[in-house]
Amino acid sequence: MASIRIDNYLRDQGFFDTMAEDVRRGLTSTPKMLPPKYFYDDEGSELFERITEVPEYYPMREEGKLLDAIAPDVMRWMRPAEIVELGSGSSTKTRALLDAAVREDTLRSYIPFDVSESIILEAGEVLERRYPSLDLHGVVGDFQRHLDKIPEANGRRLVLFLGSTIGNMFAAQRIELLRDIRTLLGPEDYLLLGTDLVKDPSIIEPAYDDSQGVTAAFNKNMLRVINNGLDGDFDPEAFDHEAFFNHEEARIEMHLRPHTRQHVTLKKIDLEVDVSPTETIWTECSHKFTRERVSEMLEAAGLQLQEWHAAPGDMFGLSLSCAKG
Ligand code: SAH
Ligand code: TRP
Repeated sequence: MASIRIDNYLRDQGFFDTMAEDVRRGLTSTPKMLPPKYFYDDEGSELFERITEVPEYYPMREEGKLLDAIAPDVMRWMRPAEIVELGSGSSTKTRALLDAAVREDTLRSYIPFDVSESIILEAGEVLERRYPSLDLHGVVGDFQRHLDKIPEANGRRLVLFLGSTIGNMFAAQRIELLRDIRTLLGPEDYLLLGTDLVKDPSIIEPAYDDSQGVTAAFNKNMLRVINNGLDGDFDPEAFDHEAFFNHEEARIEMHLRPHTRQHVTLKKIDLEVDVSPTETIWTECSHKFTRERVSEMLEAAGLQLQEWHAAPGDMFGLSLSCAKG
């Protein structure tokens, strides 16, 4: 049985090596903010996996059910030879697509792309056993910098970008990334994009503030990641997790607010900051979309919506698009 091959483009230039600069800029700006990429050390990745299992976190389940429902039909007409997945994580939901494509007997390779080598290796172990005939080729990189490292297409290609990870970016970054993704698509190729949809905040907010406190722990873990990286003395337990739906921007925002005034020293970058209970550190946003907004966003990046699939009650959306000629 062939095992997964991995190309790592972050070995020399780490994902975290811009931390000094990012954190200095973020903590000296108003409002204070920290970039969400610092959530994902090993502990953070584990906490994220646990978030996807809490009952309140509906996007995982809704997207999973929707993929199960559409995979057989889509694979029957598309017949991809290759599937590339950006931010592939554990590749769990992807199995519905891989199963259906393997059944059509057209799929030759699967290329998971993620910043985390360990998560690709872990996913690879399961995939090797389940799909012994597939060529598995992992790419460790930052999808905002290393998309050009994806090997040349070998037949019809389907690019996956699931989990509403695109919603964790701001509008300009989203368009830039989609334009880069467009360059990966030949005239017969497709992008399958997962986007969470606008709905009642009473459903959305608990998904980012679960009753077991897993999301709160995930949010506070970022302060630990920064302590480790920059020799800092943040007290994560002195902060409260806050998550709310910002109607105007149609997004969830996650913040950290100290209960009492905090004086923080980050020795490695020689930075001292005060954080008062009247302010927060903004750590994450998760934008919510409508079919129209998705279509407009694709258009702006030179892509054209071909198929739209929404879960019952518009709980989650999947769009298939291709490059405009
Ligand atoms: N697609 C999976 C995982 C979503 S979590 C799912 O839907 O369940 C987001 C994933 O994207 C994580 O595995 C994270 O490591 C990865 N990721 C985040 N930012 C990235 C970046 N800039 N480049 C590549 N991968 C990234
Ligand atoms: N992209 C997913 C979302 O926006 C996953 C995610 C990113 C997330 N950051 C998060 C989930 C913080 C919970 C908490 O839902």
